[in-house]
Amino acid sequence: MTNILELAPQQLEKFGYLDLDVDPTLDLVEEINKLKKEKNAIILAHYYQEPDIQDIADYIGDSLGLSQEAARTEADIIVFAGVHFMAETAKMLSPHKKVILPDLKAGCSLADACPAPLFKEFKKKYPDHIVVSYVNTTAEMKTLTDICCTSTNAVQIIESIPKDQPIIFAPDINLGRYLVKKTGRDMVLWNGACMVHEIFSAEKIAKLQIRHPKALLIAHPECESHILEKAHYIGSTTGLLKFTMRSEATEFIVATEAGIIHQMEKASPHKTFIPAPPENTCACNECPHMKRNTLEKLYVCMKYELPEVILPDWVIREGVKSIDRMLEISAAAGL
Ligand code: 13P
Ligand code: SF4
Repeated sequence: MTNILELAPQQLEKFGYLDLDVDPTLDLVEEINKLKKEKNAIILAHYYQEPDIQDIADYIGDSLGLSQEAARTEADIIVFAGVHFMAETAKMLSPHKKVILPDLKAGCSLADACPAPLFKEFKKKYPDHIVVSYVNTTAEMKTLTDICCTSTNAVQIIESIPKDQPIIFAPDINLGRYLVKKTGRDMVLWNGACMVHEIFSAEKIAKLQIRHPKALLIAHPECESHILEKAHYIGSTTGLLKFTMRSEATEFIVATEAGIIHQMEKASPHKTFIPAPPENTCACNECPHMKRNTLEKLYVCMKYELPEVILPDWVIREGVKSIDRMLEISAAAGL
């Protein structure tokens, strides 16, 4: 019989995960819970994961919350149900722990939009600037970054920098423009964007608002400025979720990845959440990278502890400084 672990390197290279036949009669939830206990593993999941993954996670959160949890966990294995840059961040924060990800090819269009070698050249043109990077970047990009940020703490991070200090902001141009407006800081912006958040149609949203005149438009700052200008509230995934919980409104048009609606509906079952419509004919707005993870892949990944996120020591050593700085500023700001 072929040993699965012998096949693993080719399979991971080809598919990004171990492509095994999982017994369809298995109760995956039960099996995953057993593996969690046996291996002292913790499952961290982003709000954009499938509902069944969110429901089995030990912690569900936004990019900031997930980093804080990865830094503080005492588990031996961190199972990251999210995308690659998030699992890399967890590895940098907990380098002695094993970090596994259900699908290594769960990438991010923002991280892809800013390759470290290109950014290194770009940075040379601005020698007196410091670099603030959205956490949606590769580990190598973090070695070229002074301070990371997420959409929860971006304003506080920018405001913590002396006013006369010029800044390069990478890689999300939409979040960058939003921050320029919000903080009044004139930053040099890298031109990257999220494929999910740049697809919303202002025209279709306007039509939806005619049909639902009481609905509030809530948007993630990765959306384009013409969407943000019309939003009643702008915030990170956690910010959006909390807003829907405390708002007296009962209808919301949600301009971010549709996965977050699962937690919104759980928290406010009497309220209605309508995914903002994209430009294309598809009725959904799901991140194809986030949705590469499935319950089956999560089970296989926990069973074989593969694929594992491995980073060179120098990348961990240099890259973690920008994440630590972000966590320090966030803690001082009470975030
Ligand atoms: P937050 O969850 O930090 O708001 O970020 C959204 C996102 O696009 C993650 O990839
Ligand atoms: Fe990246 Fe956008 Fe997907 Fe978030 S939603 S992981 S920013 S591609």
